[in-house]
Amino acid sequence: MEIKTAAFITSLAEYGAFTGKGLPQICVAGKSNVGKSSLINCLANRKKLAKTSNTPGKTRLINIYVMNNTFHLVDLPGYGYAKVNKKEQIRWGGMMQRYFSAATELVHVLHLVDIRHEPTLEDKEMSLFLRKTGVPRTVIVTKADKISRAARSKHLLPILRAMEVQPWEVIPFSSEDGTGRDKVLSLITSVIYQATDLNAE
Ligand code: GTP
Ligand code: MG
Repeated sequence: MEIKTAAFITSLAEYGAFTGKGLPQICVAGKSNVGKSSLINCLANRKKLAKTSNTPGKTRLINIYVMNNTFHLVDLPGYGYAKVNKKEQIRWGGMMQRYFSAATELVHVLHLVDIRHEPTLEDKEMSLFLRKTGVPRTVIVTKADKISRAARSKHLLPILRAMEVQPWEVIPFSSEDGTGRDKVLSLITSVIYQATDLNAE
């Protein structure tokens, strides 16, 4: 699937307030600054659909987009942003708990980690949390353009180990040069097709 139409719908602190539910949904989770908003722009072939920034912590709310009028893509606020105080961290945790329990249309999670760094404690905690929700997920290893092809597997190994995933559950990705874009789009096509097909039965 190519994303032919993409539109921002709304920004919410509480997913429960979203009145436009009904379409199957895929969410993008990951540490602050890992490239969540950039991935959404890259998939949609749009430069400024989702706001990106050099400053971590740009996306503080749940941002919902509609793609091809067939599914919702959800940009979740990042975690692990050093400057965030305890109160804000607790607010984030509650927002996530309530999102994952209310998002009954959620069919897949894209969990992003940076290829250059070993997953942090927060990445591992998020990984465990996602596993517990039972929603299928794929680990997207971002900023692949920052590492030579030859060095990729060396960087992927600790990520596979920390996130407890198999090599086929991981997609190296770059929103700079388009690495992995086709793979992520095929994954989206298949999960959305499956969800729509099941609904139709
Ligand atoms: P928050 O909203 O703060 O949680 O961050 P985010 O995960 O949405 O990250 P965002 O997409 O805003 O990207 C953060 C920074 O990383 C920006 O300066 C992007 O240009 C850069 N970036 C994102 N993806 C890539 C990539 O694939 N390659 C390179 N080289 N830079 C990237
Ligand atoms: Mg963002």
